[in-house]
Amino acid sequence: MSGSHQFELTMKSGRKMPAIGLGTYAPKESEGEVITAVKSAVRAGYRHLDCAALFRNEVAVGHAIKHLIVEGVINRQQLFISSKLWNTCHQPDLVRTSLKKTISDLGVGYLDLYLMHWPMTYKEGGDFVPRDESGKVIFSDVDFLDTWKALEDCVDEGLVHDIGVSNFNSKQVLAIQNAARIAPSNIQIEAHCWLSNVRLIEFCQSRGLTVTALSPLASPGNFQTHLLDEKVLKDIATKKNKSPAQVALRFLLQQGVGVLPKSTNPTRIAENINIFNFELSKDEMQLLFSLNKNQRLNSEEISRDHKYYPFCEDF
Ligand code: A2P
Repeated sequence: MSGSHQFELTMKSGRKMPAIGLGTYAPKESEGEVITAVKSAVRAGYRHLDCAALFRNEVAVGHAIKHLIVEGVINRQQLFISSKLWNTCHQPDLVRTSLKKTISDLGVGYLDLYLMHWPMTYKEGGDFVPRDESGKVIFSDVDFLDTWKALEDCVDEGLVHDIGVSNFNSKQVLAIQNAARIAPSNIQIEAHCWLSNVRLIEFCQSRGLTVTALSPLASPGNFQTHLLDEKVLKDIATKKNKSPAQVALRFLLQQGVGVLPKSTNPTRIAENINIFNFELSKDEMQLLFSLNKNQRLNSEEISRDHKYYPFCEDF
């Protein structure tokens, strides 16, 4: 690592989460590349891995973790491992089984954090995204508050330390908080300079949830225009002797938001964690906020008709 001190976010439970985690979603990559990415990340100083059943690579991530532990680079307790419950497994009696499968695939004994990946539910038991003959996603009707109760039981059982949500809106977060026996510790949402998501971030932080940003670099490579090509970002980066990616990540950190950049490239993995030894000024933060155009990249349009689709609300 850069030798500088990594930030941690303190969750309501009192446990701490390293403020940078490696996003392990890598749709086009081979198992070998995922293993290399995780190994590079831990060797570069990452202590937080963000996983999900949907990514369908938890076995590969688990191989890397096992090697790192056997090689003496790390022990289990030094890692913060999160994963996510997929939409086809919200029925309360499927929650524990899904979590147990993730724990077994990763080979880690327990999770530090388990999130409901989305508020919507899809038909249980088949494909990750079940569709009818016309191609429409087949929904299921499970109340996410019932799913939450099953997640709470998993905490009681010691399978996971903290639980939270991902891609929920403010009203849905409030509904969980009002009903919860065990409060949500974390929300993971899309946030970057093009989608500041500042109202939701401040709302969640004011209610005691830690916030982590998915797609913090606005997924360069997947779209025609790249956030990292923005002149404002480039100019600040030049001034600070940092890369545009480092500035984009630092922008979130300075809002108290954790970042989960994805990469399978060892050089960029190391670059992305080298963000704890510089500071953006108030004016620079303001300039970066001015890039906001509420541009959502992960909108899950295929389930827009679901009654719990989160992005119809104001925030
Ligand atoms: P690669 O795996 O080749 O490094 P996000 O986390 O916002 O979704 O962005 C993920 C994408 O950003 C990946 O395609 C990744 O490609 C690329 N990426 C990750 N880190 C950097 C970086 N420091 N500079 C440029 N591109 C990056």
